Amino acid sequence: MTKATVVGVGMTKFGVHDQTLPELFADAAFPALDDAGVAQDELDAFYFGNAMSGLSENETHLAPKVATHLGMTGVPFQRFEDACATSANAFKNAVQAVEAGVHDTVLVGGVERCTPETGRDTPEMTRIFASASHRQYEQPAGLTFPGVFALLTKRHMHEYGTTEEQLAEVAVKNHYHGSMNDRAHFGGEKTVEEVLDGPVVADPFRLMDCCPFSDGASAVVVTSEDLAGSFDAEGVDVTGNGHGVDAVPLGDKDSLPETKAARDAAREAYDEAGVTANDVDFAEVHDCFTGAEVLATEALGLFEDGEGGPAAAEGRSRLGGETPVNPSGGLKAKGHPIGATGTAQITELTEQLRGEAGERQVEDARTGVAHNLGGDSGTTVVTVMEERE
Ligand code: COA
Repeated sequence: MTKATVVGVGMTKFGVHDQTLPELFADAAFPALDDAGVAQDELDAFYFGNAMSGLSENETHLAPKVATHLGMTGVPFQRFEDACATSANAFKNAVQAVEAGVHDTVLVGGVERCTPETGRDTPEMTRIFASASHRQYEQPAGLTFPGVFALLTKRHMHEYGTTEEQLAEVAVKNHYHGSMNDRAHFGGEKTVEEVLDGPVVADPFRLMDCCPFSDGASAVVVTSEDLAGSFDAEGVDVTGNGHGVDAVPLGDKDSLPETKAARDAAREAYDEAGVTANDVDFAEVHDCFTGAEVLATEALGLFEDGEGGPAAAEGRSRLGGETPVNPSGGLKAKGHPIGATGTAQITELTEQLRGEAGERQVEDARTGVAHNLGGDSGTTVVTVMEERE
């Protein structure tokens, strides 16, 4: 088996966009192809992610429509849907196809529009997102995603003493990181007091504990390590991939704050890469809510169980700290256009490992980890990427 390497990345600014989904995706895909120095007719496949467009934009069977807009026909294209882990799953499948020799070079990415530009306001989009929760047991009870992660976080607070101030520190950190990312939906530095003064969305989360609804797209080009040298851009190796799963609904999980899917995915990815959490220089994690970042950093083994909150408050996960987490600003500040989030994390890992992240560059970044979860953590994909030798 060969290894897979990322040789091209591109993403739009996350925020508010009024283009169609194929137009928006093209604004990420063409920069990724340019970065790699590859043309559409040199690609062997297109793995595409979009989670909600059937409900939010009355658009299904999107992969061929997007491919046609890109001027790509004659290669297999397929769509992936795994709630918020949509494009991480597309990426994992593309990596495995390259490793197995099924395809040489694959375009992978995702796009989503979630802002009122779609004609859907916050309550309506919240209802659409809740389609990822259990149809019979959770939706009729009115459980929404802020509610799901509030429940997970409340249990963590109960078991470990995590505080609202520590959660606010996660938001402050990620807004600080996002202030150095011109593709972030929300930059602008915040204070703990400002976060704690915000209106409650779902206890313990206030406005600034939540990621926003965003529009955006991201795309990457994956090829085999043997071919990597023939592309324009410096390749970054994908050395480990893990895909963990857990029961849905929440009531069927053995433990809420443990996020079993993430722990299983991390173990699988670290084993494949031959690394441990101690080797990780930085991570992009799925901080859809501040509490979700605390849970993710513990599941990845970056901090001991119960230490995720204190670590954020002590600056250990800030740029310049022991293990920077979400140098891009994360979902919290960079934004969260569902189907685009997974490959946006891969874009950040690639740019960091090439040393091209500018002001928010992690010092001596050699090994990075991405953690992208779907739904109530029923699905989690963890990816390890390393600088090329
Ligand atoms: N972070 C920072 N600022 C935000 C923000 C966020 N997440 N969301 C909104 N804002 C700002 C807006 O820019 C606006 O500022 P302004 O008054 O200066 O213009 C203000 O806060 C109010 O924004 P608005 O869009 O009216 O808020 P809302 O009440 O409609 O929605 C949330 C806010 C947090 C409820 C909504 O963004 C949300 O539900 N987020 C979670 C989405 C989600 O569940 N994703 C899936 C995760 S698994």
